[in-house]
Amino acid sequence: MQTPRFLQRHLADAQHERDAAGAALRETPARIAPKWFYDRLGSKLFEAITELPEYYPTRTEAAVFAQHGSAIAAAIGAVGTLVDLGAGNCAKAARLFPLLEPRRYVAVDVSVEFLRESLRRIAQEHPRIETIGLGIDFSATLDLPAELIAGRPIFFYPGSSIGNFTPAEALAFLQRVHERAGGGGLLIGVDLHKPAARLEPAYDDALGVTAAFNLNALRHLNAMIGTDFVPGDWRHVARFDTEASRIEMHLEARHAVLVQWPQGRRAFRAGERILTEYSYKYRPEQFAALLSEAGFSTPTCWTDPAGDFAVYWAPG
Ligand code: AVJ
Repeated sequence: MQTPRFLQRHLADAQHERDAAGAALRETPARIAPKWFYDRLGSKLFEAITELPEYYPTRTEAAVFAQHGSAIAAAIGAVGTLVDLGAGNCAKAARLFPLLEPRRYVAVDVSVEFLRESLRRIAQEHPRIETIGLGIDFSATLDLPAELIAGRPIFFYPGSSIGNFTPAEALAFLQRVHERAGGGGLLIGVDLHKPAARLEPAYDDALGVTAAFNLNALRHLNAMIGTDFVPGDWRHVARFDTEASRIEMHLEARHAVLVQWPQGRRAFRAGERILTEYSYKYRPEQFAALLSEAGFSTPTCWTDPAGDFAVYWAPG
């Protein structure tokens, strides 16, 4: 069996990452980027979220692939390299392997340690596919070494992670993918607009798993930049902004809190919030327009019967 090749870029940028995280904490409102959710524990907590009855996106997307898998594969055609953006446990891509039969699988994720474990398993289970891991944060730049792509490139961005970007950032991101998807294309999962009464429980579940996931970003920051956050000082808040069509997740100070770290400090008043995540919800025609604005050809779209979640194939 081959051992997966592994390329890690982001260690060199560790200092830059720390500086950016510190600067964001000092802004008004303070921010923690969603990528800080995903240390090893955070990736496991996200896996647990996908099992919650309230959190419909993962299982709905899986149902779309289960129902329309052969149509999707037929639309895509031959796959040289499958580039999995935000691979996590690699399970979604692996379920597509029998349909898409890629020659090479490139798994990209910020959570390097978690990715390493996942990829070792994938390489064992799929010895005929060449597997490569890439530990980078692709949210700001998509710095893929050219030799990583062998044959027709198909980018895979499932789970509605695109929702973490503002629409302007999403456009810039899609343009960067489009630049690298020539001859191939993009297969992407997108969560659709729906009433707040459906959306809010999905981000504020009864068991408090999403609250733990949100609070875990504080532990991760403590480990990475040396902040002295105490999770118990903070409360999980998730609300849907209908106008902006986005879920907003915050951490709200339960009382006045002073946070200190080697390069800085930040005082929070009781009730003051840290923004940790946006999760934008699109209307189908709106997302199709975004894809064409980014340069993709006319996409094909599949949804579940209720129209909760959409999967788009957009040729490059
Ligand atoms: C991984 C970004 C798609 O926005 O639904 C889940 C992350 N945050 N519950 C989402 C998340 C809170 C998730 N994405």
